[in-house]
Amino acid sequence: MPCVTEIEPSIFYVGVNDRCKSLFEGLWPLPDGVSYNSYLIRDEKTALIDTVDAAFTERFLAQIEAVQGDSPIDYLIINHMEPDHSASIRAIRSRYPHIVLVGNGKTRSMLEGFYGIRDGFCEIKENDVLSLGQKTLRFYMTPMVHWPETLMTYCPDTQTLFSGDAFGCFGPVDGGITDTEIETDRYWSEMFRYYSNIVGKYGTPVQNALQKLRQVEIKSICPTHGPVWKREIARVLSIYDRLSRYEGEEGITVVYGSMYGHTEQMAEIIARRLVGKGIKTIRMHYTGKSDVSYMLSDVFRYRGLIIGSPTYMNGVFPHIECLLSKIEARELSNRIFGCFGSFTWCGGAIKQLTAFAQRMQWEIAAPPVEMKQGITPDIERACIALADAMYERVSHHP
Ligand code: FEO
Repeated sequence: MPCVTEIEPSIFYVGVNDRCKSLFEGLWPLPDGVSYNSYLIRDEKTALIDTVDAAFTERFLAQIEAVQGDSPIDYLIINHMEPDHSASIRAIRSRYPHIVLVGNGKTRSMLEGFYGIRDGFCEIKENDVLSLGQKTLRFYMTPMVHWPETLMTYCPDTQTLFSGDAFGCFGPVDGGITDTEIETDRYWSEMFRYYSNIVGKYGTPVQNALQKLRQVEIKSICPTHGPVWKREIARVLSIYDRLSRYEGEEGITVVYGSMYGHTEQMAEIIARRLVGKGIKTIRMHYTGKSDVSYMLSDVFRYRGLIIGSPTYMNGVFPHIECLLSKIEARELSNRIFGCFGSFTWCGGAIKQLTAFAQRMQWEIAAPPVEMKQGITPDIERACIALADAMYERVSHHP
């Protein structure tokens, strides 16, 4: 049975949940799944906003039909061409052959590249307006949030923003669609993970988009993933604002690899000391267990980062290397950094970690602590000194 919800007068949610997919983009774990959101606006003309993943086309068409019956759809607004939202476009064109596809110049070339579609397209530009009758739609170009063609669509009559991937999160929508219908606690950590993994590289484009959105009143944000935001709009905008300025909250992420527990001993000493000094938020990740997407999420969220690594093949531990490359690719700035590690016969990890922090132009809070083989009182004191220096820098950060 189709599940559609009228989220605003004559604006219907027609998206679907995917509870089976394990990895988003083939990379990022989805413990509970994800939703692909699409919206149908009924007026003298009807507009569909985005489509869904190819695996859900049939269900999607049934949802639309539950609202629309046999009536035609006039426009498909394409906010974003990534296939989790565009893969049902061909099926929509088959079912509604007179539908006009609406997007910008880059959308046009991606439509041809992905789907061989060359006709039935209406190109729009910044601030263009499309009248549906009683309602109008206004378009804002938001390139690199998170592909070059991305745009947002705003309905001034209901003050509804169709924001594409922006302000979305992992996790299905369980029964309710809007945040006024459901308990939202589970979504916040997934919003941080979604942002840091998917959008994190594009801080400046996100800031540019937020600047444009300051011109409009927003009563509902309708993203392509996760709940529709009505009650929590201020919180959602502020999370995006802070993350895209790379501004960390007070707190420290401690990430460590360990083969036989020696580096782990150092991590435990440091974490205990940090809490003893008064840092309330410590997020520890053992790389043998945590997926890198969760580490990345906390590294984006919190101001302090301490990394511990055994030396492995004269260099940094492989899982740590994986994290470093992801941080570097996202050009994350403004972190306060410390590092420690151990080796058996020759070091290498600390040298690499220090070089990494220098490339990132991060503040290094204290000299690294490097341990040969097993723990000693001197190493314990050095770990405590590292924790104290991190405490000072993170808690007294302006
Ligand atoms: Fe949900 Fe960038 O696609």
